[in-house]
Parts: sequence; C-alpha cells; structure tokens
Amino acid sequence: MHVTVFSAHAFEQDYLTQSAQGQHELRFLDAPLSLETAKQAQGSQAVAVFTNDDASAPVLEQLHAAGVRYVAARAAGYDNVDLAAAHRLGIRVANVPIYSPYAIGEHTVALILALNRRLHLADQQLRANDFRLDNLIGFDLHGKTVGIIGCGRIGGVVARIMHGFGCQLLGYDVAPDVMLSTELGLTYTTLEDLCARADVITLHTPLNGHTHYLINQELLAQMKPGVMLINTGRGGVLNTQDALAAMQSGQLGYLGLDVYEHEKGLFFNDRTRDAPHDETFAQLLAQPNVLITGHQAFLTREALTNIADATINSLTCWESGQPSTTEL
Ligand code: NAI
Repeated sequence: MHVTVFSAHAFEQDYLTQSAQGQHELRFLDAPLSLETAKQAQGSQAVAVFTNDDASAPVLEQLHAAGVRYVAARAAGYDNVDLAAAHRLGIRVANVPIYSPYAIGEHTVALILALNRRLHLADQQLRANDFRLDNLIGFDLHGKTVGIIGCGRIGGVVARIMHGFGCQLLGYDVAPDVMLSTELGLTYTTLEDLCARADVITLHTPLNGHTHYLINQELLAQMKPGVMLINTGRGGVLNTQDALAAMQSGQLGYLGLDVYEHEKGLFFNDRTRDAPHDETFAQLLAQPNVLITGHQAFLTREALTNIADATINSLTCWESGQPSTTEL
C-alpha cells in the first residue's frame, strides 16, 4: 500500500522502513500535515501522522478528496485528530496506545531529578569553570509526597519509580486503578487535596475537553509554596501563562516541561536560524528553575521500534481486512 508519512523525522525513518519490510511503499515528507500540505497525499490510501500534525476536520476533508481512507497516528495521544470528522468521512483512524510507558515515565523522573539537583545549572557552571555549590542545594525525595494526576500507564510507571525512592503517593484519576493503591499504597484523592498536599506534582492525563487547562491559576494558588510541577502529558493540560506567573511569584518552585501548549511549529524543528518570537517561552527559559525538553520523553530505541511496528501493523491489518485493536 502507498502511505504518505507526514512530519517524517530523521530519528524514525529507519525504524519505519525496517518495520515495513517492503510490504508498504512509504513516502516520507518533512512537512507536517496541514491544509496546505494535505494534497501531497494524493495517490496514497493511507497517511501516517505525528503529534503536531493537523488532522482537523477541514484537513481530513482534503485528505478524503485526495483518496485517503486511513490515518495512522504514530503516537499515543490523538488530540490532534478530529475523530468525529474522520468517522463521518469514513476515514479509519488508529493510534499506538502502548509503545513504552517506561520511556515517558523515566523521562518524567529525569526531569524531577535534574530540577531538584539543578543538574542543568551545575553543568553550565562547571563548563564555565565555576565549581561553587552555593546555588545547587536540592532536597531528599525520600519521604516527600508525589501527586500523580492521571494514574494510567505512564502515571503508573512514575508511581512505581517514585515508590522506590521512598515517596508517599497521592493520585487523582477519573477511573482509579486500585492496583496502585494495593501495590504501592497510593492514595486517591480530589484534585484540590492532591494539589494542597504534594511536594511534586506530575501530569499524565490525555488532553481533551475535560483536561484543557486542568491546572490553572486557581489550583496553582492552592499548591504548597515552592512545589515542583512536571508536565510530560500535553501542553494544553497546563495554563502556561498561569504557570509562568506562579514561577515569577515564587509560588511554583520548579517547573519541568516536555510539552508546551504552543509547541506546534517549534518543537521537532531546527529553529536556530529563525528563532521563534514567543514571549512566554522566552520568559520561561529565563527562569533558572525551569527545565524544558522538546517533546522527547518518548524518544528511546524501544519506543521507536514499537511505534514503527504498531503503525505498520495497523496499516497491514486494514489493507488485509483484519481487525486491529488500535483502531479508534
Ligand atoms: P492512559 O490512558 O494509560 O492514562 C491516562 C489516565 O488519565 C487514565 O487513567 C485516565 O483515566 C486518566 N484521565 C483521563 N481523563 C482524566 C481527567 N479528566 N481527570 C483525571 N484523570 C483523567 O494514557 P498514558 O499512556 O498514560 O498516556 C497519558 C498521556 O501522556 C497521553 O494521552 C499523551 O497525551 C501523553 N504522552 C506524552 C508523550 C511524550 O513524549 N511527552 C508520549 C506519550 C504520551
């Protein structure tokens, strides 16, 4: 089958080619999927899209007109795909629900450790031959309370690692997983109570109508002064402007982000020659206790292999009329 792969990054092309094993003809495009680029899928029965591709209703209509009947999202999150519009058009959609919750969970913990022990600052200072320690004091994670918002696959991995560090665990989820309570002693509570009691808060819900700006000024004000907030879920779950204000006032002590609500067009691109004019982003980066990675939490060899295999498997199932468990 002929498949147009939008936003085909160098880091994933070999994995996809290897998984396809010549079964599918993959056409890699650097360009993200958008209203302008959708017509480039002409001649493909399917497209493969990435996190920041625009698969909204008008774009899906363009894809449909170009002959596309299948959208394979190379990601767990599919908030960028208008599922209702796809179903209306008869376009089937698949995602990769599980490829490695460990990759994202471990990256979350990397952000917690790096921010706490100020590794990003220590590295800068050491490279400048400044070996003083005065501004690098951290805190023991042992005995601290970690609040996990969204205790699914990734939140569960974070819970297990932080339990190993000797942390107390609080959880907030619309569908609590009792295993985390029985195995790790995680206590489910309300969002407000979690925010009031946790020393470290980490976000792992999907982005949808219920979770957009779930963490906002009101909840930030209820958190412990100096709290650490981590978001490796989706940028829109956190009101960035409110988080910036809370950092500037000292209410937030640390902010670790792998996702950013305005990351589209920024993350995954080389912007060294045309640096973006994003005042909020610039002000975040000006804070020493802010650490941002560019949506790389998923980026392990194991995850890339699993994403490629699952994406190709969905396409193969669809082509051969077999049921696929990853269709949405
Ligand atoms: P999951 O579906 O296993 O877990 C999500 C949890 O959130 C579920 O337990 C669900 O009940 C809960 N939830 C849903 N709506 C909620 C609400 N309104 N309030 C409280 N809890 C709610 O998903 P998984 O695999 O853990 O992934 C979570 C998210 O992480 C994805 O949706 C995606 O947006 C993000 N992600 C980020 C990556 C990165 O590279 N930074 C890579 C992969 C996923």
